[in-house]
Amino acid sequence: MNQVSDYPLKWVKPMSHIDAEVLKTIIETAHDHFFVVDGDGRVIDVSPGAVAVYGLSREELCQSTVYELAERGVLKPSVSLEVFRTGKPAQLMQQTATGRRVIAQAHPVYVNGRIERVVSRSMDLTDLQWLQDEYSLLQRRFSEHLKRTNAHSIGDDMALDSLDHKLQVRSQLMREIALLLKRVAPTDATVLMLGESGVGKTAFARQLHRWSERRDGPFIDVNCGAIPDSLFESEMFGYQPGAFSGAARQGKAGMLEQAHKGTLFLDEIGELPLPMQTKLLKVIQDGTLTRLGDTRSRRVDFRLVVATNHDLAGQVEQGAFRLDLYYRLNVIPVTLPPLRERREDIPGLAELQLKRLNDRYGQEKMLHSTVWAELMSHDWPGNVRELENWMERAWLSSAGDMIGGDAQVTLANGANRGILGEDAPLSAEAATAIDGGKTLRQAMQAYERGILARLCDRVPSTYAMAETLGISQPSVVRKLAKYGLSVSQRK
Ligand SMILES: Nc1ncnc2c1ncn2[C@@H]1O[C@H](COP(=O)(O)OP(=O)(O)OP(=O)(O)O)[C@@H](O)[C@H]1O
Ligand SMILES: [Mg+2]
Repeated sequence: MNQVSDYPLKWVKPMSHIDAEVLKTIIETAHDHFFVVDGDGRVIDVSPGAVAVYGLSREELCQSTVYELAERGVLKPSVSLEVFRTGKPAQLMQQTATGRRVIAQAHPVYVNGRIERVVSRSMDLTDLQWLQDEYSLLQRRFSEHLKRTNAHSIGDDMALDSLDHKLQVRSQLMREIALLLKRVAPTDATVLMLGESGVGKTAFARQLHRWSERRDGPFIDVNCGAIPDSLFESEMFGYQPGAFSGAARQGKAGMLEQAHKGTLFLDEIGELPLPMQTKLLKVIQDGTLTRLGDTRSRRVDFRLVVATNHDLAGQVEQGAFRLDLYYRLNVIPVTLPPLRERREDIPGLAELQLKRLNDRYGQEKMLHSTVWAELMSHDWPGNVRELENWMERAWLSSAGDMIGGDAQVTLANGANRGILGEDAPLSAEAATAIDGGKTLRQAMQAYERGILARLCDRVPSTYAMAETLGISQPSVVRKLAKYGLSVSQRK
């Protein structure tokens, strides 16, 4: 029995079945995660906890080398590689592709002077880090509170504490924009929100309202692109009883009147017909409006926020938008940058949407590390809306708890696969257009019409169509009108 003393743990060798079970239990239940690689860096085994931290299955990990894992960004940097480099034990902080922060230690196992194994042990510090962040946030809030009560000073970044928790502003660009909006919110200055479709113009207009003194008043959201020309005036200005045939008997307050004491948000302002521009200008100048069929004018008091994803200045040059109204609206222009110019916002937005989907559908799913990498590198022409829609499709089409990791969801194949992908071959109109020697623009329009026509039978509303295509609902309405299509009412 003397041989036992040769080994630090009596059961390491020779090991009985029961001792092997004990060792297995220790490894599987330890809070730390274990990783064993051979002398060539091939992963031999991992403990179950490592799977969650690195976002790959045990089989996938065991088919890889640490060189590959480091190169793919599954873990960065690799502590085992450090051991191979120095021949000594190593310890370092790691960032994993699943967004975890991990402290990793590794030890070489030498046999005849050569490293035969590297055993590494890692501990996930993310939650601890989160607590620490939370703690320092509370501390900062507290000192901010003290400062404010002492000197009425307005904090800088702390000002964003009151941002709706559903809005993410991690990038410096977005933080600065949010701070600007917060600063101008208490004034009644008109804000012009600019930026591509889906960047968050509407979302931040609502936030501006919540930050303003008018937060208890209404927020009236008008999509100028969605109102047919014939209804514009009565929708915007309201009407008196009997103003026109079909008018409600008791008359109706228009959107401008409904915004009294609150905020009027005119989305797609570039779509406002010229006669309406003149009338709106008059309301802005006088602070009064007259309902259709009425003789007396009424006072209205609203804060105006407008948005467009078109070049409004260009529209002015072309004579499609009144210069004097443009000056009235362009008081505080705020341009929200496209998502591809602020990729730091992507993880937060994806996490937020994942949490929403997990809550909505009652199942906890995770994003595979390869999906994270793809999310970060995609260009997102449809911006945050496209990201949200893509996540929902990916969530719904993944069978297990892991989103991605197999061929089922890739952005490279197009987020709208199934509708715009193989499922929608070149439409007959488009094919004819090309064969008929039409211009590229005409052929593309024919193709666009083909896609819309196809969707008209499949979706219940223009809102659903907008969701599916990743464009705004007013754009859908405009396009349908342009091609003389309408959504089928069969549903
Ligand atoms: N910073 C953000 N944090 C969280 N969600 C966001 C953020 N920005 C936008 N979103 C979400 O993305 C979606 C699209 O945003 P929004 O409708 O505000 O875009 P938009 O610029 O008004 O687009 P459009 O020009 O098509 O009207 C919404 O669901 C919105 O809540
Ligand atoms: Mg909008």
